[in-house]
Amino acid sequence: MFALVPFLSSVLAFVPFQSTNGATMKAARIASFGAPDAVKVEDAPKPAPKAGELLVRVHASAVNPVDWKIVQGLIPSLKQSFPYTVGCDVSGVVEALGADVASFQAGDEVYAYANLMRGGAFAEYVVLPASDVAKKPKSIDHAHAAAIPLAALTAWQALFDAAKLEAGQSVLVHAGAGGVGHFAVQLAKWKGAQVYATASKEKLAFVKELGADVVIDYQAQKFEELVKDVDVVFDMVGGETQTRSLGVLKKGGFLVSIVGPPSAKELEARGLRGAGMLLKPNAAQLKELATLVDQGKVKPHVSATFPLADAAKALALSKEGHTVGKIAIEVVPAPKK
Ligand SMILES: NC(=O)c1ccc[n+]([C@@H]2O[C@H](COP(=O)([O-])OP(=O)(O)OC[C@H]3O[C@@H](n4cnc5c(N)ncnc54)[C@H](OP(=O)(O)O)[C@@H]3O)[C@@H](O)[C@H]2O)c1
Repeated sequence: MFALVPFLSSVLAFVPFQSTNGATMKAARIASFGAPDAVKVEDAPKPAPKAGELLVRVHASAVNPVDWKIVQGLIPSLKQSFPYTVGCDVSGVVEALGADVASFQAGDEVYAYANLMRGGAFAEYVVLPASDVAKKPKSIDHAHAAAIPLAALTAWQALFDAAKLEAGQSVLVHAGAGGVGHFAVQLAKWKGAQVYATASKEKLAFVKELGADVVIDYQAQKFEELVKDVDVVFDMVGGETQTRSLGVLKKGGFLVSIVGPPSAKELEARGLRGAGMLLKPNAAQLKELATLVDQGKVKPHVSATFPLADAAKALALSKEGHTVGKIAIEVVPAPKK
């Protein structure tokens, strides 16, 4: 992540919420950097949409490692002002529209990646640029929809925009059981690629079920002994895993990393290509993802759900680093079935 900090600083600047008309809401915020238990659920001003924005009643959010990294102050380039409301994934219902928003109406069920620049999703309400928002998949509840935006957009943009993965090609997905990885495996299969994926032993069956052709217990096996000449490596681990991954790519192959760019010198010496990547909001891609979900081709997996009041516990669980699929935050409790 540290290698990503200069990368982040070139593209990020903190955007504060507009202040409001005195109404309040519950929000999970920090007053200063700290461990996950620095996050307190407290009264905060209810935001108001400006021109081009939507006010969304948040029904659910999801946890991403970047949330606790921000809370700990590991991404200083964001230049947060305090209090800072945590959270980047949103699924909810449009409550109000700013001026010049024609594409949505009050009552629409929507989902979005609330840009790192904004955060604010662990709250009862969030304001989002309408251009970043898409209608949520109809076939799943808010907790599962909220599991999609940041992680699935990252997988999409890494595999298809950066590495240009195509049908018939092969890809090694590291950490295939995690938030980004479980979408990457499914999206690569949907594209028609041959998928190798690493995970720890107890998660291999889960990754196989997602569609991986070959699953590798990265603690017991050396992936480079089982994977040869792939077109693409998707790295979300970094360090020596990234370095060793260069050896499994075919000449001209592409290593895309979301935790730090590969060395340009190493790539050149081996005749490879590669890049680091930071996701961007993209409503058109969210629309495509919603269609894939409603067609049953991609399934978000939620392994744990916490109420907003327990946001700190959810962040602490993510920080342990062993998440299967996603951890959801329910802001509006789902109706009992
Ligand atoms: N640049 C960007 O735009 C961007 C976007 C999203 C995420 N990220 C970063 O990407 C990383 C992954 O995000 P995430 O949301 O997928 O995290 P996550 O949901 O916490 O999943 C992490 C997964 O990594 C696995 N893992 C840990 N060490 C491994 C290794 N050596 N080999 C294979 N798997 C390993 C863990 O499984 P085990 O328990 O089995 O080890 C776990 O399932 C985080 O550092 C995050 O901050 C960057």
